Amino acid sequence: MSTTRTQVAIVGAGPAGLLLSHLLDRAGIDSVLLENRSPDYVLGRIRAGVLESSSVDLLSEVGLGERIAREGDEHRGIYLQWTAEGQGERHHLDFVDHVGRSVWVYGQTEVTKDLMAARERAGQQSHYEVRDVELHDVAGDRPAVTFTDRDGTHQRLEADAVAGCDGFHGPSRAGIPADVRRTWERVYPYAWLGVLAEVAPSTDELIYAWHPDGFALHSMRSRTVSRLYLQVPPDEDVAQWPDDRVWEALATRLGHGQDGWTLQDGPIVEKSVLPMRSFVSTPMRHGRLFLAGDAAHIVPPTGAKGLNLAIADVTLLARALTAWLVEGSSTLVDSYSEDALRRVWRCTHFSWWMTSMLHTLPPGQGDAFDQQLQLSQLRWVTSSQAGAAGLAENYAGLPIGF
Ligand code: APR
Ligand code: PHB
Repeated sequence: MSTTRTQVAIVGAGPAGLLLSHLLDRAGIDSVLLENRSPDYVLGRIRAGVLESSSVDLLSEVGLGERIAREGDEHRGIYLQWTAEGQGERHHLDFVDHVGRSVWVYGQTEVTKDLMAARERAGQQSHYEVRDVELHDVAGDRPAVTFTDRDGTHQRLEADAVAGCDGFHGPSRAGIPADVRRTWERVYPYAWLGVLAEVAPSTDELIYAWHPDGFALHSMRSRTVSRLYLQVPPDEDVAQWPDDRVWEALATRLGHGQDGWTLQDGPIVEKSVLPMRSFVSTPMRHGRLFLAGDAAHIVPPTGAKGLNLAIADVTLLARALTAWLVEGSSTLVDSYSEDALRRVWRCTHFSWWMTSMLHTLPPGQGDAFDQQLQLSQLRWVTSSQAGAAGLAENYAGLPIGF
């Protein structure tokens, strides 16, 4: 087995791991990145597409804003709509008017591409397609990660700290002993069917639609590519949804019967079912192991928070590790878990709230009373300054240090 040393061993090359390595590099801290998939696989995953203004500010501050400014699309707000008793209403909620902040539509795949290029430029070491990743002695002073590299060589990587950025299914979370760890979970009784379509968006801003048949969302990736979602039963088989059925359901749920608005359809190039869950695991630090991103928490996609939370976590973590490894102060590593969790729980609540407001409950789990409460909530956030400002503040994002 060959043994090497670095300052921070990072497990997982999703947005959390890649951005952490970039932030550490700028602070003069060495890291090694371990990822079990290939770069092409990581770049091929279709993920979220909305960046909060604080995420864009952060990425711009660290030299990654150029392509976002050129190819991303700034959005002032969203549309919220509902159809009740056959009558549709669509309302624009302007974040800039309410809280002075906007959001950017820029795919997570593009963020990942920019981050991979930055890491290559920095000449920091990455191992893709590794196997058998195991964490050792994270509670002690000399933690290590062992793995088998792409060529089949067993390696031991010793570090001052280990960052678990390996997503919900990665091994890092289990590095926190069961008697210390606490988890909170909510599994929702519905899922999303997501499609990527080669058609210009039929809207200038995202549309979140409540409909008696179930929720629908019209999002986008570019001027020529749309991303659309439909609420479906959990564990729905995509085979139940041929393209014609998808377009018909989208047209019904997104149509609001006014201004002659129609949904343009086009070739569907990807279709998949996404489970919906909220999950938080605490603490986010144990000894010299630090968790960030989906390794520690999952939010349902309704509030577009997953990627932004991962960015916020690693921003706090990079600051904490820099203060510790460069300046010798452990104050921020000691408060990392508490600092990160404040924002995690805020986003967990917001995502749960948006999800609960917009999805119809299956028979037996909800009734006409629940629907009236949802509609009342939608009317309130689209007609009251205070209601709209609360949604806008959370959607456009609170400052990283919140
Ligand atoms: N060894 C090494 N890498 C691993 C292992 C392992 N055993 N298990 C998982 N990984 C890798 C995954 O292949 C993935 O590339 O860890 C990475 C985790 O990345 P993400 O799942 O993208 O998680 P994160 O970086 O925290 O980003 C969160 O991504 O999943 C979306 O909606 C989520 O937008 C949010 C964001
Ligand atoms: C997306 O574009 O994939 C997207 C946008 C907004 C959401 C969820 C997903 O709330």
